[in-house]
Amino acid sequence: AAPSGTQGTGPAGPDGHGDADRATRAVVMTMGALHDGHLQLVRAARERVGPTGQVVVTVFVNPLQFGPDEDLDRYPRDLDADVALLAGLPEPAPGRPAVDLVFAPSVEEMYPGGDPIVRVTSGRIGTVLEGAFRPGHFDGVLTVVLKLLHLTRPDVAFYGEKDAQQLLAIRRMVADLNVDVEVVGVPIVRDDDGLALSSRNAYLSAQERADALTLSRALRAGAEAAAAGQGGAGAIEVASGMLNEHPGVVVDYLALVDPTTVDDLEPEYVGPALLLVAARVGSTRLIDNLAVDVA
Ligand code: PAJ
Repeated sequence: AAPSGTQGTGPAGPDGHGDADRATRAVVMTMGALHDGHLQLVRAARERVGPTGQVVVTVFVNPLQFGPDEDLDRYPRDLDADVALLAGLPEPAPGRPAVDLVFAPSVEEMYPGGDPIVRVTSGRIGTVLEGAFRPGHFDGVLTVVLKLLHLTRPDVAFYGEKDAQQLLAIRRMVADLNVDVEVVGVPIVRDDDGLALSSRNAYLSAQERADALTLSRALRAGAEAAAAGQGGAGAIEVASGMLNEHPGVVVDYLALVDPTTVDDLEPEYVGPALLLVAARVGSTRLIDNLAVDVA
């Protein structure tokens, strides 16, 4: 079984690293343009390590994970605003900040010799779904995540379920390469109307934002169909029907997969599954997903 706990050997301290004197350290990795989804990861991290633990937030827009035609140049960057948001989080104890350290390296600091020659490869996970539409993306993600793990040396690292395939790829890397860190997934934070929070929502016009609501609505309708006995095929049919009603929404993929492998499911499959969608709304590419119980 893939270990999700710390894997320290030898005399383990309370942090599992065999270093009883050191506080437990959590890391939350981001590309900045922070919103409440990111803050939820920080809250979960602080909750986990307690007032005496350390919470590190990294802010780095990683060029390695952007394709040549993607939004690297226009990706929103405002470190001062990000730091202000983090500084505004409630203190876990009087005089203790919610976040101990913000690590925001430059591209030159992260990749001093230019693009790294040696990288992490994500294998099959990196070629399906998001990986099929963003070749090289998950290799770029895993490479920077491993670098940031080495640079921050956390006991526990928090990632959002919003990026379900990314979370899975990170879990696989940690298991396959024996990285000594515990990976924790945090549920998706949504706006009141259901739209999953994303830094890329900032690109949306009012009309596009209304169109974008179709993603979460279609997932919900699909999940209800699956739970009501219409099977995986029924879930896809209902969800794709809703998505196709909206000409402003161009679907890249809609898929019902095994939640632990993102493998396709047999037509007769019954049990827990993950319904994933990626679509373009105007020039903005959005992703969302929902856990589904196929009855
Ligand atoms: P970014 O898109 O900034 O997201 C940082 C973290 O916040 C990820 O773990 C992501 O899943 C989580 N997150 C984003 N929106 C969320 C939401 N609405 N609810 C819950 N969690 C949410 O993902 C990345 O950056 C990068 O790929 C990174 C891991 C930092 C590597 O560069």
